[in-house]
Amino acid sequence: MTDPVTTGDPTPARTTMTCAYDAGAHHQRTAIDLVLPLFLRALDECAMPRRGDSFVFVDYGSATGFNSFVPVHHAVSTVRRRSGPETPLCVVHNDQPDNDFSTLFRQIIASPGTYGREPLVFAFAVGRSFFGPVVPPGFASIGWSANAVHWLSAPPHPVEGDLWFRRPADSVDTAFGRRARGDWVTFLEHRARELRPGGQLVVTMVEADENGAAGADHFLDRLRDVVRERLASGALRPQEVARMHVPLYYRSEREIRAPFESPDLAARFVLAEYQHGTLPDPLWAAFEQSGDAEAFARAHVAWQRAFSEHALFSVLDGDRSPEKGRALADEIYEELRQRVADAPEGACCTWRLALLRMIRK
Ligand SMILES: C[S@@+](CC[C@H](N)C(=O)[O-])C[C@H]1O[C@@H](n2cnc3c(N)ncnc32)[C@H](O)[C@@H]1O
Repeated sequence: MTDPVTTGDPTPARTTMTCAYDAGAHHQRTAIDLVLPLFLRALDECAMPRRGDSFVFVDYGSATGFNSFVPVHHAVSTVRRRSGPETPLCVVHNDQPDNDFSTLFRQIIASPGTYGREPLVFAFAVGRSFFGPVVPPGFASIGWSANAVHWLSAPPHPVEGDLWFRRPADSVDTAFGRRARGDWVTFLEHRARELRPGGQLVVTMVEADENGAAGADHFLDRLRDVVRERLASGALRPQEVARMHVPLYYRSEREIRAPFESPDLAARFVLAEYQHGTLPDPLWAAFEQSGDAEAFARAHVAWQRAFSEHALFSVLDGDRSPEKGRALADEIYEELRQRVADAPEGACCTWRLALLRMIRK
């Protein structure tokens, strides 16, 4: 039987871009710790495959996979306990087509915490949006989606003067809110089709309260200020800054529950658990212990860069070479790092989370 592994570092990758996500993703790992109890209940309750069939774990929004190792290890040990050593496990990592799947597979082969050396456990990847079909109908035994569904399929319109759409109170209707509503329904409809009867889906995402606040809505403010200054100095062009957008939207509890009021979805998919979580800033906690503002600033910027760089810097004008684009990003994130080191107060990010467990009837 396998012991769940909770330690180990991401395998260093060939380029800074490829290892950046896992090296910086401390907040995401903390969110995963919070949703694990729901996942363990899902594993204990979900239908096991018939003799000879495989148990299928689908990881929706995997990034480069390291943060999925702990839930996969739990899946392996539970399937071994409930179904025996002969049941094969398929682990399907899903992300956008331009995700760094090479790093994902290298980590599955080589990372100290990998599940990749478990007997009869097979890794697969599907590079397409989870707002469409990812696996065949009735294929998945269990679905897992951590820190991913608050990314929209696309922003409905540009947002002037900011790097993301800061949502208003829950009572205010917006194009972003409508897009988020449609995306969530689409996500759930596809998962309801893909899960086997008796299958379960566990999701964690950032949640907004009734005032629209998710706890750390200032998280991009300093980066936005640096970008504005580079626009004023001419280092960035107006059309580039207009395209720079991190397409996040934090749904309220009402918005998260709404699709389950549809009799059609409710007939197939039950929202069995909805918990609210508070995700304390793990980097801030380390800073409070050490008092090391430089280390905090480095870790804070590594986290920010890992999730924002692609959205912000892949939209630079085509006449900039990838090297020039990278150099510009390096310079902007370095400026951010210095500012955070000089004034760490205000960079602490404590988020509200929604922790969900759903059952396919
Ligand atoms: C913050 S990362 C979370 C990664 C990992 N699950 C974790 O918890 O650390 C969000 C991931 O979701 C992916 N993602 C966002 N929108 C997606 C979509 N429509 N389809 C598939 N993946 C998506 C992003 O590409 C990114 O890799």
